[in-house]
Amino acid sequence: MLKRLLHSVQSHHGAVDPPFLTDRVARYRARIERNGAHLLRGRIPGPEAIMLVSNDYLALAHHPTIIEAQVQALHTHGHGLLRSDVFRHGMSFLRDFELRLARFMEMEDAAVCQSGWCANVGLIQSIANPDTPVYLDMYAHASLWEGTKSAGANARPFKHNDSQSLEKLIKRHGQGVVVVDAIYSTSGSVCPLKEIVEVAERYGCLIVVDESHSLGVIGKHGEGLTAASGLARRIHFCTASLSKTFASRGGVVVGSAANTEYFQYESLPAIFSSGILPHEAAGFLTTLAVIAAENGRREQLRTNADYLRHALSELDYNVDDSQSQIISLVSGSEAQTLLLRDALEARGVFGSVFCWPATAKNHALVRFSINSALSREELDRTIQVCRDIREEVAMYDWASTRKRQLKLFLGDEDTLVLN
Ligand SMILES: Cc1ncc(COP(=O)(O)O)c(C=O)c1O
Repeated sequence: MLKRLLHSVQSHHGAVDPPFLTDRVARYRARIERNGAHLLRGRIPGPEAIMLVSNDYLALAHHPTIIEAQVQALHTHGHGLLRSDVFRHGMSFLRDFELRLARFMEMEDAAVCQSGWCANVGLIQSIANPDTPVYLDMYAHASLWEGTKSAGANARPFKHNDSQSLEKLIKRHGQGVVVVDAIYSTSGSVCPLKEIVEVAERYGCLIVVDESHSLGVIGKHGEGLTAASGLARRIHFCTASLSKTFASRGGVVVGSAANTEYFQYESLPAIFSSGILPHEAAGFLTTLAVIAAENGRREQLRTNADYLRHALSELDYNVDDSQSQIISLVSGSEAQTLLLRDALEARGVFGSVFCWPATAKNHALVRFSINSALSREELDRTIQVCRDIREEVAMYDWASTRKRQLKLFLGDEDTLVLN
């Protein structure tokens, strides 16, 4: 048996890759490697490192009550029935969670799936037809673009957070699906949701809001931007990843009972990929209760993010787009971003590198994701590091810095033409 296995590995290694694959692998290598350094693999963080890389915004990944709920469910249910959720029926931790989450977000019902990626791809794929225009904010998450592709529909991108740009496009292409993120994952900007909804409603468009980075964070109890803005009744679907504030793995589509049921039985990832496990669902249920109850974490998150953003701004970093716990240093080219990453990591500060295709070309950045457990000492150390490296990383030469300085020099109105 072992001999047969070894033989198959050997013959696999002997397989000759055709040029259509070798070309792609070569393109990947050229993109990701700079003078032998890997763009996404820097230093291994030591125990003293300040980690600004996690989407666990309320620091729930080790919450004892949540872990205990999961352990109990594992003991009782093991890994449950391993199958697609189309065969799920009756009450369960998961169904209970869906109904409670929907109420929390002021909507009627919800359908959980395997990830935020599956929620977005599956939703757009199942609601847009090939002749449906899909109006996406230019910064909308990649999964929403992928769903549009999967539907065979036309993507009609509008300028970031610009309802006038959206309206112009709708006038040209007609009724369709309007897609926005509540908080944008690279810039940390917040969607002007009311303006977007008003435009979308004027033309009878369907509205999808990705609440991945806002669920648990925005609103008195973390109900997300849609409910906190009083817009839940005017929006057709919210989606979210449960890998951010929920500190787990999973995704969800929230909306009317009829439409979320439709999603569950029509979207391809929901049908053709197995559902989540019972202890994960038990974890979601307890996490929702923790998120709703522990307001202090949300307040601390806001305090931490405001403190760091203000200090970075004082140091002349252009963090003007951030209105949330996501704060990015927009270094520009990939070479400049490597320099920035290495300078930060050498001093024990770890952020996440974002480059094309996660950003536009030459808009690469290092993203800091702030969480509620960061101490003032860690934030001050981060600020000190950012102060010290400005010359080394040529921060005053970045396009983002120059744009900001020009804006400050000319004043807001004169720079409208620059945007
Ligand atoms: C805005 C947004 N939507 C969706 C996703 C996908 O979520 P998941 O990681 O659960 O697949 C992400 C994660 O990167 C995200 O930032």
